[in-house]
Amino acid sequence: MPSKKNILIINGSPRPRGNISRLLECMKDEADKAGCRVTYVRISALHIKPCTGCMQCRKDGRCRLPHDDSVEVLKAINECDVMVIGSPCYWGNIPGELKILFDRIVYGLMRTNGKGLPEPLQKGKQAVFISTCSTPFPFNILFKQSRGTIRALKEIFRWSGFRVVATFEKGGTKQHDVSEKDLARCRKIIGRLCR
Ligand SMILES: Cc1cc2nc3c(=O)[nH]c(=O)nc-3n(C[C@H](O)[C@H](O)[C@H](O)COP(=O)(O)O)c2cc1C
Repeated sequence: MPSKKNILIINGSPRPRGNISRLLECMKDEADKAGCRVTYVRISALHIKPCTGCMQCRKDGRCRLPHDDSVEVLKAINECDVMVIGSPCYWGNIPGELKILFDRIVYGLMRTNGKGLPEPLQKGKQAVFISTCSTPFPFNILFKQSRGTIRALKEIFRWSGFRVVATFEKGGTKQHDVSEKDLARCRKIIGRLCR
């Protein structure tokens, strides 16, 4: 029997009962039901110092700053098959806390090889991105609001070697919170990947 997938879900929203949290929690429940191994991380519960830009990690393959939660998250990334990132749109981008995490673990995501070329370190893994924003559809796409958040995540994950297999964007959250239909779509996305 093929072994069950290891799913890592990272919640980039500070709101425990916000839209991203609702979408991700229903994805977690679905993955649990399918028998997957699920790790769920709330970014706002972590303590991670920002990158100082020393670039030593590119040589050493580790960060010189004192050990913090970024190391544990990287460990979980190394062990996962599928990574799900839920990110609200902040200024057409990802929230600062999420960016700080990815800045701090760059050494575990990609490196530069002897010829000076970028080399992804997470090849063969799948990624799913979920984003919400208050700008209503279709302006969330046309004006790169939730679409800007997805683009920012793609930039990080493309260089890391992940294959982005699904994205879900929800605009207009000021008028409407996520609906049953939105939850069902996210359930379907994760259900397919857990098979
Ligand atoms: C600091 C901050 C910046 C934001 N920037 C944008 C933005 O650029 N475009 C937009 O459409 N919504 C923006 N929003 C609104 C959020 O994306 C929106 O409320 C989202 O649904 C929050 O997700 P959550 O309920 O999961 O926390 C911003 C919200 C905050 C708090």
